[in-house]
Amino acid sequence: MEQPLRKSYLDAMGITQWVVRQPSASEVEERPAAQPLAPEPVAAAKAEPPARPAAKPVADHDAPPAWLNEAPPSDEEWHPSETSDEAEQLSPRSIVADLGWDALQQHIAACKACELHRSRKQSVFGTGSPQADLLIIGEAPGADEDRLGEPFMGRAGKLLNAMLKAIGFERSQVYIANILKCRPPDNRDPHVEEVSHCRPYLMRQIELINPKVILAVGRVSAQNLLQSSDTLGRLRGRTHHFGTGNIPLIATYHPAYLLRSPEQKAKSWQDLQQTLSLLQKP
Ligand code: URA
Repeated sequence: MEQPLRKSYLDAMGITQWVVRQPSASEVEERPAAQPLAPEPVAAAKAEPPARPAAKPVADHDAPPAWLNEAPPSDEEWHPSETSDEAEQLSPRSIVADLGWDALQQHIAACKACELHRSRKQSVFGTGSPQADLLIIGEAPGADEDRLGEPFMGRAGKLLNAMLKAIGFERSQVYIANILKCRPPDNRDPHVEEVSHCRPYLMRQIELINPKVILAVGRVSAQNLLQSSDTLGRLRGRTHHFGTGNIPLIATYHPAYLLRSPEQKAKSWQDLQQTLSLLQKP
């Protein structure tokens, strides 16, 4: 990858890149040699980008964007309750398998299969191109997403946009969905029965999109998609395969976690490069 392009990718993710310049004679004694902070790109990421509409160039800026330094959003008060028998009978399991894209969206908008429908403002189906090569799967809508009806709209969403730009994608060129379609109270982890009610929806979305690569962002997404209780630290860093289609799946840190732990961005950059190299495979 060419240096200016690589720099713009790293800038977009808020990763500071040190460049070695020739010091003046007076500077030589005053400061230690600069160390490169950015990880080396993996070999495969140096190949040509995949055939898709060209992404707009990322702005070249030296300072990280202001939102990287803001505090994570606060939680609101919510009141979880148990799944009712009535909700159990409304399980979508058997009915979504043959739905087309629009019918699936309508079905989810009206879903009352679990108790989350009582507290949601609206369900959040997903956003982007249903023909996308890259499918991003997060955890569940938060307050912003519940209000606006679209995934990843808050600060974490802005960072996700920057992460996508770092590998040359606009948000509209990928598809973004969640494990859960409705907001869990208190931003708590999804309950097992909520995931199991929602799973057929996500499975049908994956089937219809038929992506080339899935990027699972966050522990909840990765653990549920891979049916694993391993930590994200153990699940990231290698290529998994999802479902009967053996779709390559990369697990990486959730952007909300990266906002709290920016030192992990270098690892997420490696995951993104691995994702890009899988997308570039013929
Ligand atoms: N976090 C997620 O995992 N998904 C969203 O849509 C928003 C925040």
